[in-house]
Order: sequence, then structure tokens, then C-alpha cells
Amino acid sequence: MISCIGILTSGGDSPGMNAAIRAVTRTAIFNNIAVKGIMRGYRGLVEGEVSEFHTQDVSNIVQQGGTILKTARCLEFMTVEGRRKAHETMLKEGIDSLVVIGGDGSLTGARIFAEEFNVPIVGIPGTIDNDIFGTDTTLGYDTALNTITEAVDKIRDTASSHERLFFVEVMGRNAGFLALNGAVAAGAEAAIIPEIATEVDQLEELINNGFRKSKNSSIVLVAESDLTGGAMGLAARVKAEYPEYDVRVTILGHIQRGGSPTAADRILASRMGEAAVNALLEGQRNVMIGVRNGELDHVPFAQAIRKIKSIDRNLLNTVKVLSM
Ligand code: F6P
Repeated sequence: MISCIGILTSGGDSPGMNAAIRAVTRTAIFNNIAVKGIMRGYRGLVEGEVSEFHTQDVSNIVQQGGTILKTARCLEFMTVEGRRKAHETMLKEGIDSLVVIGGDGSLTGARIFAEEFNVPIVGIPGTIDNDIFGTDTTLGYDTALNTITEAVDKIRDTASSHERLFFVEVMGRNAGFLALNGAVAAGAEAAIIPEIATEVDQLEELINNGFRKSKNSSIVLVAESDLTGGAMGLAARVKAEYPEYDVRVTILGHIQRGGSPTAADRILASRMGEAAVNALLEGQRNVMIGVRNGELDHVPFAQAIRKIKSIDRNLLNTVKVLSM
């Protein structure tokens, strides 16, 4: 029997987390279940920073970026001793189940904790990177893509005025979803992504294909990663190997994590938040709420964490064809 759900956000924040907190809180209260907000991710659970949430505590947040619960990456929770303390907080506060909103690392922590202490946990994938298996999209990904698109539109004005080659670095932590889909949305000339970095020299291929022949400027989206070399690494290579190009670098950075969530992210967060509480009430354990082809799904933690989500390689060709 579930009677009190603890909710936390962990890892990098992403737009839509607040909408999910609101949905979890209100769905629980609608079902006469108490909700407790846990501050700063697992750290709040370890240190006992917990307070009861009422419907008004989540008023006026559906449109806000970031997370009202704050977030952190907690080293102590990675130890058995830390997790024991976290469990003690749950017992003391009367929290019998958890909803964890976060990325890969946060869900990995949830899985270990759930197994060690037999705690019912449901996860919601919250990361702009979209790198979680078992869900077509994660909270914040759509908003980040829109931020990237808007930024690249602006860069294009100056790139074309000066007839320059721009490398625009986007986030993704070793995944190319933001770079590749951002390139399609912004009409960029190419995307350089980690998924194929060991197979081809993407920069050489780009230059050899004569990608600027019919153009006076070019924008290339680069996924942050040691595998791609990042925008700075690629620009250094161009300067050394192809000095005829006038090259510039823009690193979009944390601007991609902020801002008001798009309607798509708010809807996703609302549906996932409601589904997370319903899953707990139905007796689901150790699952993440995913969305596949528009339908919500329960994805076992073991799959969501262990399996690698593959990228749609056809999109590389789409970028190439459409940037002629
Ligand atoms: O995982 C989300 C993410 O924003 C990545 O895209 C990025 O590499 C990382 O977090 C940045 O983390 P930090 O908050 O430590 O700067």
C-alpha cells in the first residue's frame, strides 16, 4: 500500500521538471496520497531535507524552467552508508515510495536503492540529452532543441554576412540527438556526432564533399564529446589543415538547459507525472515511464539504464541532402 510518495529531481536540470513535480503532486493528492518534496536530489534524502507538499506548493510552476526542488549530483548516495542514511530518512518521514526525475545516473541510483532496500520507485526521464533507452523523448529535450534552433538562426545572420564557417557546439554528453536534430531544424550544413566518430573522419568527409561549393557560409552543429573533438578541436583542425576557411566557434553551453518549457515538454511532463503515480498505485516497481509512438509505457530500469538508445542515422543523410 502506498500512502506517501517522496519526489526528487536529480542530475542536470531540464525544462519540464517543474511541470512533472506539479503533476506528481496533484495526482497523488487527488488519490488521497501524501507527497513530500525532497530537496537537492538524493542529497536531500541523505540529509533529511524534506517537506510535505500541498497543491498550492506547486502552483504557478508549469511554465517555469529549472526545478523548484533544486538538484545535485550526490557522491554520498553512491556509497552503501549514504543510501542507508537515505533509507532512514524515508522511515523517519513515513515516505514509502519515490518518484525520481532525472537522467541516466539518477535512474541508476534509483535502481540500486530500490533493490537494496526494497523501495518502490518509479522514474521519469528528465534530461535535455534524450539519451535514455525506452523512451522516444525525455523531458527538456524539445525545449533544448528549440533553444538551439533559435540560437543557430541568429548565428546564421552573422555567418552569412561574413561568409564564415561556424562550428556550433551543443550539449548531449556523448549523444548526438541534439546536434543531429538541431541541424535538421536549423537547416545546418552538417552535424558532427559521437555515434559515428570512430567510423569516419566526419570533418574530412565534409570538406571532401565540397560542402561549401555553392555557399558563402556554413554552419556545422557539433555534439560535445571527446569523440567529436568538440567545436574548438574541429576549428583548430580546420585552421591547421584548411586555412582557406574563415572559421568561428560558438559554444551554446548551459543556455540550452534553461528557459520556459515548450508546450510539448509540459504535456509530456504532465502525462508522465500522472502516469508515475498511477504506476506506483498499480503496484509497479523499478520502472521508468517512457513514451513510444505517443503511448506511455513502463520500461524496467534495467533496460532504460543498460541499453544504448540508437540514433536515426537516416537523418545524417537528410541534413546532407537538404543542405545542397
Ligand atoms: O546531462 C545533461 C547535461 O546538460 C549534458 O548535456 C552536459 O554534458 C552536462 O549535463 C553538464 O553538466 P553540468 O551541470 O555538470 O555542467
